Amino acid sequence: MLEIIKIDETIYEIVRTVARGGMAIVYEARQLGVEGFAKTVAIKMILEDYSNDPAFREMFVGEAKLVADLVHQNIAQIYQLGRHGNSYFMVMEFLSGKTVAEFTARHKQLNWQVPIELGVFIISRICRGLEYAHRKRDREGRLLGIVHRDVSPKNMIITTEGEVKLTDFGIAKARFFMRDEEGEVLMGKAEYMSPEQARFETTDARSDLFSLGICLYEVLTGVNVFDTSTNVHEVLENVCTKVIPDPREYRPDIPPDLAKIIMRALTREREGRYQTATEMVYDLEYFMYHDRYGPTIMTLHKYMMELFPETDPSNPFAELFYPDSDTETTSSYTDNLFPLEDEDGKTYSQT
Ligand SMILES: Nc1ncnc2c1ncn2[C@@H]1O[C@H](COP(=O)(O)OP(=O)(O)OP(=O)(O)O)[C@@H](O)[C@H]1O
Ligand SMILES: [Mg+2]
Repeated sequence: MLEIIKIDETIYEIVRTVARGGMAIVYEARQLGVEGFAKTVAIKMILEDYSNDPAFREMFVGEAKLVADLVHQNIAQIYQLGRHGNSYFMVMEFLSGKTVAEFTARHKQLNWQVPIELGVFIISRICRGLEYAHRKRDREGRLLGIVHRDVSPKNMIITTEGEVKLTDFGIAKARFFMRDEEGEVLMGKAEYMSPEQARFETTDARSDLFSLGICLYEVLTGVNVFDTSTNVHEVLENVCTKVIPDPREYRPDIPPDLAKIIMRALTREREGRYQTATEMVYDLEYFMYHDRYGPTIMTLHKYMMELFPETDPSNPFAELFYPDSDTETTSSYTDNLFPLEDEDGKTYSQT
């Protein structure tokens, strides 16, 4: 019986830089195999400063190992953890699409409102991914206790096919171990944190559900409830104490049952919140499907093609639709189905 197979060193051909963040650079790349085989992947290269920090490294590698076997349609899959020079990198499923942050921003730019059911659909898919991760057990049947800790619109990608995936599992915890020059913990996105996270307490799965509640509120209203200042400490204070307005104050057409779901997710006392993603996803799906044929991946795909016509591969005139910031249009799709109130050179990298 074969006990070990040594595979040739994998070669990744960098196609382009997708984004450059504070902690990492994301590339689109091609993983090359024999006889012209090539698979498109995403590579997240952790910046050297982080990779060189022993506390960060230990946490990052530990978390990466923990989430390696998460395989779910609503989670961006990790294929490999590697090191290039002094930098660690993760090879992931490449997702062609837009982040939920870009999705919301495009609506603001066009002066559209996110169709309520589609907003709920997007968040419910993320909730499904969380449900799977929170319940994940190891081979011996022990609960892994996975918590994402950075559930935020930039970590949610809607693919052009209408799938919704959560990215960056296992990264937030590692970042928490990094400190800036003043010795302060490098916080993730404070405006998406749960109160227990903001108070530096231990978190469990319920923390992700609070963050998901913030995202749902924002997708539907365009408002992040806690993001009122550029001062991180003030935002953290907001997370812990600011009165959370009923989302219908910003958007009166949000049905009361849905507002209730949002406010339940945003309960500061963990015991009053959804206790599991299963409970929350049930309520979201009940809202969408109990009395009608609610949204599907195909509905979201069609909507994405309308919202981002420049990404529609079947549209030969795609570039003509590229909207500029002061273009105001209306969506025929939303009008029909969701009535609105108004409105680098080539480099090679080897593991
Ligand atoms: N698997 C992927 N496939 C395609 N694009 C991706 C993938 N993962 C991330 N991206 C893109 O790269 C961008 C940057 O991601 P990255 O996680 O580095 O930063 P961020 O989420 O904006 O902030 P943070 O560092 O807090 O996570 C994302 O906004 C998304 O556009
Ligand atoms: Mg991210």
